[in-house]
Amino acid sequence: MSKVLYITAHPHDDKASFSMAVAKEFIDTYKEVNPSDDVVHIDLYKEDIPQIDADVFSGWGKLQSGDELSASEQRKVERLSELCEEFISADKYVFVTPFWNFSFPPVMKAYIDSVAVAGKAFKYTEQGPVGLLTDKKALHIQARGGIYSEGPAAQMEMGHRYLDTIMQFFGVPSFEGLFVEGHNLNPDQAEAIKEDAKARAKDAAQTF
Ligand SMILES: Cc1cc2nc3c(=O)[nH]c(=O)nc-3n(C[C@H](O)[C@H](O)[C@H](O)COP(=O)(O)O)c2cc1C
Repeated sequence: MSKVLYITAHPHDDKASFSMAVAKEFIDTYKEVNPSDDVVHIDLYKEDIPQIDADVFSGWGKLQSGDELSASEQRKVERLSELCEEFISADKYVFVTPFWNFSFPPVMKAYIDSVAVAGKAFKYTEQGPVGLLTDKKALHIQARGGIYSEGPAAQMEMGHRYLDTIMQFFGVPSFEGLFVEGHNLNPDQAEAIKEDAKARAKDAAQTF
């Protein structure tokens, strides 16, 4: 049995969002194919995802010095630690984001900051940092109004490439992207583009 984290960074559901519609197709199929797996949905727009702020830095400092943390420091530091432990305890990750301003919504970056912990997701060695999540696999599902997986705009794409870099840094050996692209450029083909991506998602879920 695998534990799958279904990590969505979208304020809308599958009715209003192309990313979420394709992701739903993927995760529903995945659950059908793997009924005994534990699929945990982390809705980043509903969950408490603390940013690394002054409280967090002072809380971490007090953990080192043995001083007592304030209630706010304690809450944020504990929540960040909980998110990290949950992440490293999982076997597979499905990230779902819309393409916003060449990347993804900021709460996804806050989530990555919560899990990118030395000694948990990676470690420092004399040869440099080494990823520790070498037995995981990950998928990123994203809808983009334009086309960024190829062509002249590809170099402006910084969301999937960022997640790819982080997954490599964590040592995750398998990370794929599943994109719904170009529907804003070709609005009359939007439904067909979405249906094509849903079919690819259904296929991908068979073997993920
Ligand atoms: C805040 C915001 C920023 C966006 N930035 C881009 C962009 O940089 N390039 C692009 O092609 N489309 C951009 N779009 C369009 C979205 O990528 C497109 O609507 C996509 O379908 C969003 O995913 P969703 O359908 O899951 O919401 C943007 C949309 C919003 C709301």
